Amino acid sequence: MKKILITGGMGYIGSHTVVELIDRGNDVFIVDNLSNSSLEVINRIEKITSKKPAFKVIDCCKFDEFEQVFKDNKFDAVIHFAGLKAVGESVEKPLLYFENNLVSTFNLVKLMEKYNVNNLVFSSSATVYGKPESVPIYEDFPLHVTNPYGRTKLMIEDILRDYSKVHPKFNVALLRYFNPIGAHPSGLIGEDPNGIPNNLMPYITQVAIGKLPCLNVFGDDYKTKDGTGVRDYIHVVDLAIGHVLTLDKLYKNPGLVTYNLGTGNGYSVLEVVKAMSVATGKDIPYIIKPRRAGDIDECYANCDKAKKEIGFKAKYGLKEMCRDSWNWQLNNPNGYR
Ligand code: NAD
Ligand code: UD1
Repeated sequence: MKKILITGGMGYIGSHTVVELIDRGNDVFIVDNLSNSSLEVINRIEKITSKKPAFKVIDCCKFDEFEQVFKDNKFDAVIHFAGLKAVGESVEKPLLYFENNLVSTFNLVKLMEKYNVNNLVFSSSATVYGKPESVPIYEDFPLHVTNPYGRTKLMIEDILRDYSKVHPKFNVALLRYFNPIGAHPSGLIGEDPNGIPNNLMPYITQVAIGKLPCLNVFGDDYKTKDGTGVRDYIHVVDLAIGHVLTLDKLYKNPGLVTYNLGTGNGYSVLEVVKAMSVATGKDIPYIIKPRRAGDIDECYANCDKAKKEIGFKAKYGLKEMCRDSWNWQLNNPNGYR
């Protein structure tokens, strides 16, 4: 049995990953400052897995309180989800984003070194590819970012690349997530955005349930199949399983590895709207609005590398992603509140 520290484990992707890890017999320890999550998540994880994971309210930016967790536990690996993630907010509050995302990671790596923990999975993002010159996107494409949030991801990737060069015992996986949506099929955990959602799927589910009147489709003049933006949506449970597979790889001492985690399929905004209207049995009203600043035409992954090296292949399609997003929304109209 491995003991795994999960920073940000109360959040959307973290909570789903905790469930998959517990289901496979791992011993999990969560730290989270609850800045974007709820204490209720622990009860939900317990309901799904029949096991209550260890949890401490810790801000990873506070070195001393974070260190106590390393003093008290011997970890085999860390998955570092903790971070702020809203692109628009990062433009408004760049210092907050640089400080939170970078300082938490510095502290983590220093503590891993001090306490001889040598396996790290880092939550990166497809945002590090900026506006790609072509699709599908391969891991060796040039990296380029357009906003402070993305810059924190790229800076952390660079830091970890430099660090790993001089620490051969240190294994690190940079996982570049595409667009996670969906929820656990139990309907007990899911994405719970604060206020009006920025991202497409939570916005649509709130339209479907009647909390928001209508979806704004940002642009219908992109160079895509129907003019609306195309993305690689991946079911959050598939993404979570990607972390389990990545840990198995790290235990074999590969040094630094980088994987795209997506499905390899691109769906347009209007295709998602259509699939959601089938899943919900409701009309999803929408209006076409101007493009959102910073958005790109198309973004989808080539996932051959993750398939070949860690056996990763997403098993859920758009239909299941929509079904589970809707099931979560219906069961939790106010999220965890
Ligand atoms: P989330 O906000 O649901 O989860 C992040 C968790 O980290 C939250 O529970 C929050 O309270 C916690 N946290 C933030 N700062 C912290 C700190 N200093 N100390 C302790 N805890 C802290 O986000 P998510 O969607 O689950 O994303 C997880 C990670 O994956 C993030 O790093 C995010 O940038 C990255 N990512 C997410 C997406 C996405 O679409 N959701 C895409 C690409 C990458
Ligand atoms: C966004 C972030 C990205 C982050 C990801 C997951 C930007 C520019 N990028 O990606 O860095 O990793 O979220 O958190 O913010 N759309 C609408 N109407 C809406 C919302 C979205 O039409 O109300 C469209 C967008 O224009 C896009 C697609 O839906 O074409 C997906 O948008 P979204 O879910 O916000 O994800 P990304 O923009 O791909």
